Amino acid sequence: MKTRQKTSKPDRSPHRLLRVLSLGLTFSLVSAEYGDAAEPIKPVPIMIEVNEAKAELGRRLFHEPRLSKNDTISCATCHDLSAGGDDGLVVSTGIEGRTGLVNAPTVFNSAFNFKQFWDGRAHTLKDQIDGPLQSRIEMESIWPDVVTKLFQDKDYPRMFQESYPNDPQIISRENIKDAIAEFMRSLITPNGRFDQWLRGNTGALNEQEKEGYALFKRYGCVSCHQGANVGGNMFQVFGVINDYFRKRGNITDADLGRFNVTGNEADKHAFKVPSLRMAAHTAPYLHDGSAETLRDAVDAMFEFQLGREAPDEDKEAIVAFIKTLAGEYQENNYQFDLGQSPMSAEFQEDRRNGNLGQRPAANGVQEISTAETAQESPPAEIAETVSQNGKARPLRTGRTARKASKNGKAGPVRTGR
Ligand code: HEC
Ligand code: HEC
Repeated sequence: MKTRQKTSKPDRSPHRLLRVLSLGLTFSLVSAEYGDAAEPIKPVPIMIEVNEAKAELGRRLFHEPRLSKNDTISCATCHDLSAGGDDGLVVSTGIEGRTGLVNAPTVFNSAFNFKQFWDGRAHTLKDQIDGPLQSRIEMESIWPDVVTKLFQDKDYPRMFQESYPNDPQIISRENIKDAIAEFMRSLITPNGRFDQWLRGNTGALNEQEKEGYALFKRYGCVSCHQGANVGGNMFQVFGVINDYFRKRGNITDADLGRFNVTGNEADKHAFKVPSLRMAAHTAPYLHDGSAETLRDAVDAMFEFQLGREAPDEDKEAIVAFIKTLAGEYQENNYQFDLGQSPMSAEFQEDRRNGNLGQRPAANGVQEISTAETAQESPPAEIAETVSQNGKARPLRTGRTARKASKNGKAGPVRTGR
């Protein structure tokens, strides 16, 4: 059943926004009343408010090869929405077969990232778009050419006019970016099996998957991969415990990560912790695409981020858990058909009432909106890693995470914004 209702008016009014924020507040109070310690992973909101006309325009632009210099490459070339929102390659292939420097992340749920790109150099989805469009190895365009090409189209001028009625320029760099960003915001994957479980449907996960989540928390994966996106809300050094780059060799500029943005020594090899939401569908993994399978990526995490061994069976359970994080996406439908999920009726009702899926679930898990997630800072210490000798050791994360250096002394790693 697909009920298509208008999700918003042409311009999001400040009142609407206020309402969303105050809803969030109400529910934090409510969930406090439930008295449950909130899970470190939050469900993807069932619905996100987007301007449908702009998102529709953005969808076309996302698939538009004329955004590239020679009309061959669109955003979708590297972010295939029918295949996980990435390209399945170690590094992307851009214009004239030029190869990229890092592995393409999924675009799904990117609205929940606190920054965009592996090194966080773009602050918003809108800012991010200048990157691929002008990059010599991706689309190699210049904005005036793109604007001219779109003006020559039979549909675009009308579509822009409708979405940006007060803009005398009609088609502009700003509007193109705005429409694409609006579409990007609609690319969410709610109602994955894990989210159903969070919302109280205990049968949504099997025993191995539940065990995988328990292990994910126990080993301390969750100190870095957390929130609605199971990642995407902090920077962390890759190789916190063991030096990945020395082992791999051949260090490139891209390997320096966040350092390229801040110039801070402490940010060398720090990356935005990637979201694991769509990891079931986005092999290969890691910023350099070096992990062929999910299992390989999990092995790398144990070796370089945790510095410890784990039984095969634990790793397999974690992989099984990660696969339950992916949710549903329906192209051209900014409302999501929740199928036969036991929670469907309830959430359909929420959507009809304009409640953005923000109700406390049966087990007290608090729902959150994109705006809140993006600003959410990582909880100080939510997990403990268990060190090799079996003693529990807190893993500090967030802005003042500490890196265990080779001589055993801990040095501060600046993360966060
Ligand atoms: C040639 C392949 C290619 C094209 C074309 C391309 N991208 Fe990307 N995209 C990438 C790669 C590679 C990255 C990672 C770059 C980095 O982090 O330095 C990326 C990163 C992103 C991110 C950040 C995701 C995250 O988790 O940080 C978003 C959002 C995104 N692209 C959207 C777009 C949009 C919108 C377009 C079209 C305007 C586009 N991309 C065109 C390959 C591509
Ligand atoms: C100290 C922070 C930290 C901890 C702890 C951590 N990770 Fe990561 N994880 C990262 C960072 C940073 C990356 C990106 C590394 C890169 O590509 O350079 C990453 C990447 C990944 C990836 C690859 C995702 C992709 O799309 O490429 C997976 C899967 C993953 N982690 C799972 C786990 C699991 C499972 C655990 C626990 C066993 C764990 N992580 C523990 C920070 C952490």
